[in-house]
Amino acid sequence: MAYINTVGVVGAGQMGSGIAQLAAAHGFDTWLVDTNPEALTRAEELITNNIHRLVSKGHLSQDGDGALTQLKYSSNVQELSSEIIIEAIVESEGVKKSLVLELDKIAKCSTILASNTSSISITRLASATSRPIKVIGMHFMNPPPIMKLVEIVRGANTSDDTFYTTKALAERFGKTVICSKDFAGFVVNRILMPMLNEAFYALYTGVASKEDIDTGMKLGTNHPMGPLELADFIGLDICLSILNVLHSGLGDNKYAPCPLLVQYVDAGRHGRKRGVGVYDYRKSSQKGKT
Ligand code: NAI
Repeated sequence: MAYINTVGVVGAGQMGSGIAQLAAAHGFDTWLVDTNPEALTRAEELITNNIHRLVSKGHLSQDGDGALTQLKYSSNVQELSSEIIIEAIVESEGVKKSLVLELDKIAKCSTILASNTSSISITRLASATSRPIKVIGMHFMNPPPIMKLVEIVRGANTSDDTFYTTKALAERFGKTVICSKDFAGFVVNRILMPMLNEAFYALYTGVASKEDIDTGMKLGTNHPMGPLELADFIGLDICLSILNVLHSGLGDNKYAPCPLLVQYVDAGRHGRKRGVGVYDYRKSSQKGKT
């Protein structure tokens, strides 16, 4: 089993920036790469503020400046020379395959290629590379620095060594690990997404208002967030991509995305990250009217 000291993260959106922050805060030399320079600037601002806040609350064992200097940003994937590369780019099999193909060419043959995919087959991503034994799913929850779980997904050819090295890394990040077989949506999203989709159906068919659906599930089932609020937090585009993977991968109509969810995504209402989803976040920091 290898002992990882250097971490590369590709994709500086909500998940990639959180994973990079987590790695740097735990003392790893970390690179964060995104092809979009604006995403990198946003991520740097967010991570810097988060690290300063953690320091002021006494929640960071090492000093904040140390963590910040351990983290480097780049728009060029070729700069990555880490022992593990965790991809957290858009939830599209085609786009992820092109990236792992590129990473396979530039990374040392000992480098583990991990995917933070929410639902896409690790076995198929691995098949795009010359190192399927070194490819694994490392599925963080949102937001990665806070949520306690990492779901590890072994592809058909993932080696024991890759599995135990990745598991040990997640545990050094302070996470609890569950292991899933490589079926669409793995464990968490296979169970979560049908619930979020059903909440859209309840809204679509006029069963209740969005506020009442969310309040009902928060107070009625003791969930910290209502399902529509959670879908906005995850990103409606991501939810739709996951449901499409569940629908085609498991071949059951119960996973077919609700037309209202599809329409919101078509309209660019991708949730909190875009300022509007089921709720409108642009007018105040509170959920607004849509
Ligand atoms: P996001 O849309 O916030 O960020 C994606 C980032 O990837 C963007 O900054 C984009 O510029 C960048 N990107 C796209 N193609 C690229 C490429 N070829 N090379 C480098 N950068 C590229 O997406 P988010 O929410 O961070 O999701 C990323 C991944 O994490 C997806 O696979 C998603 O399913 C998964 N995930 C998402 C969760 C969520 O709650 N949003 C939770 C767990 C996993």
